[in-house]
Amino acid sequence: MSHIVAPSILSADFGNLQRDVEMINQSKAPWFHIDVMDGVFVPNISFGFPVIKAINKHAKKPLDVHLMIVQPERYIEDFKNVGAHVLTVHYEASTHLHRTLQQIKAAGMKTGVALNPHTPVSVLEDILIETDLVCMMSVNPGFGGQKFIENTYKKVTQLKQMIKDKGCQTLIEIDGGVDLNNYKKLLAAGADVLVAGNTVFSSTDPLKTIEALMQ
Ligand code: DX5
Ligand code: ZN
Repeated sequence: MSHIVAPSILSADFGNLQRDVEMINQSKAPWFHIDVMDGVFVPNISFGFPVIKAINKHAKKPLDVHLMIVQPERYIEDFKNVGAHVLTVHYEASTHLHRTLQQIKAAGMKTGVALNPHTPVSVLEDILIETDLVCMMSVNPGFGGQKFIENTYKKVTQLKQMIKDKGCQTLIEIDGGVDLNNYKKLLAAGADVLVAGNTVFSSTDPLKTIEALMQ
């Protein structure tokens, strides 16, 4: 399978959201990445249901929704209703992760589990089989435009091996600090999905930058 690039709407111009969503529609990126922050799990607040609904109205590609919120199980149906295709919850925010993933599946979405930079891949041992996507945080969640954490490569290699050993189809997504200098090394280590916020939206030619990341 060729890899996926998921531009992060967090770095879009919210005053011109429709324009930026249409730009991603025109681009070679297969997904949208949507970051939801509650000001409790992470020290920032992004946006919620009305904004995602508005994005979904114009988006012609799947929404990959990354919840950086406490007790994400409270809102599974709501995210389905505003158009989420993949729903990712944080390992660190989920006391009953297995149940939450069952609920996401039952609601008709793909399941995602996100890991903070300090959380070892080994915690996924008994949940990988229920997980369609692992969102490997390569920065501390909360903000776009941060510096990539180098230890991520080791974690991707370990996770790829675990996926192989278990015969799972789980996708590995890298989230944070992905740029034109590190994306090839990430793909070589086993990444399947590259989230890119700052790299795409601060570029002088976002369409061209997405095309480069897709190569
Ligand atoms: C960080 C978010 C990321 C962020 C990535 O908490 O989960 O998705 O938007 O932004 P960049 O690519 O700018 O690091
Ligand atoms: Zn994200």
